[in-house]
Amino acid sequence: METLVSAPAFDRRAFRSALGSFATGVTVITTRAADGSPIGLTANSFNSVSLDPPLVLWGLAKNARSMPVFAEAEHWAVHVLSAEQEALSNAFAKSGEDKFSGVELETGHADLPLLTGCAARFQCKTRFCYEGGDHIIFVGEVIEFDRRDATPLVFHAGRYALAASKDAGRAPGGSARLAGSFDDDHLGYLLGRAHFQFYAPIRAAVREQGLDDAEYFALLTLTIRGRAGAAELARLNALTDCLLSEARLDSLVLRGLLTVDEEDGERRYALTARGSDVALRLIAVAKAREADLLQSFGDTDALALKTLLHRLSGLAGPHPDLWQPDGSLTAC
Ligand SMILES: Cc1cc2nc3c(=O)[nH]c(=O)nc-3n(C[C@H](O)[C@H](O)[C@H](O)COP(=O)(O)O)c2cc1C
Repeated sequence: METLVSAPAFDRRAFRSALGSFATGVTVITTRAADGSPIGLTANSFNSVSLDPPLVLWGLAKNARSMPVFAEAEHWAVHVLSAEQEALSNAFAKSGEDKFSGVELETGHADLPLLTGCAARFQCKTRFCYEGGDHIIFVGEVIEFDRRDATPLVFHAGRYALAASKDAGRAPGGSARLAGSFDDDHLGYLLGRAHFQFYAPIRAAVREQGLDDAEYFALLTLTIRGRAGAAELARLNALTDCLLSEARLDSLVLRGLLTVDEEDGERRYALTARGSDVALRLIAVAKAREADLLQSFGDTDALALKTLLHRLSGLAGPHPDLWQPDGSLTAC
């Protein structure tokens, strides 16, 4: 093979960032040193080579601490990480630490240390090693593999990312019909439409209980907060623009859904047994609606969607956090 004697004087950072536009999965490669200790590192240079015979490759920096061990190793295992294993990826990307401490291990071929909870694992026997500039490329024959349905961890542009399926049927960009009007790709329109579509059957169940949206939000908030005054309930639901006045809460008391008592001159409301039963039934309807929709969406897309919605909500401004004891404002 031709040896490169001179390389073009690329800007190193520009070259790295151009390479980073190639999205990859993330793996941890493990082996066992001659003294029996487990060795491993994070690598995204992994790739498939051949189906028959089954071959895979990855590249290891020549100056990596683990190089002498991999250079001698006859076997190694590739672990394709799942989206929940970002912490594992970070731990194995550090040099020198005891990367395996607290990590659950199984034992594979030739005593290979195997990580658990991965999207896929390939146990390999080294077949070829190639010079690759400042890296050595290892090609291994897969002697055993296993996989489970898990959302993969993705690495793109120097950051962890999530994979989401692309909607092949829909071209980006909406279909504006009137100049100056929204098009159907406008984020606000999409969020609103998805919200109302999602809530249609839940709202129907809420109405069947004789409740309007404000009353429904009051019941839900009290399942989380236990007891609260009208001002606190109004503050926690301020973004919904629903009016949660004492008069409205008192009407829920009259209907047997809330109790009221006074503390420090303030009226404080809590769910009655019946109110709690109604709230739990409505929560069950909402959870069933979510499960139903996300089932057809798939785990990977569901995770990507929720991650992006959390991010968008954080960017859009602070919101009262119902789950914080003081309901303080949260900005992600
Ligand atoms: C996402 C990601 C991918 C990486 N891919 C590789 C790789 O393919 N080859 C490599 O040699 N180092 C890679 N690294 C860096 C090594 O994980 C890191 O240098 C590690 O400290 C090497 O371990 P060692 O020094 O114990 O050998 C990667 C790091 C990250 C975070």
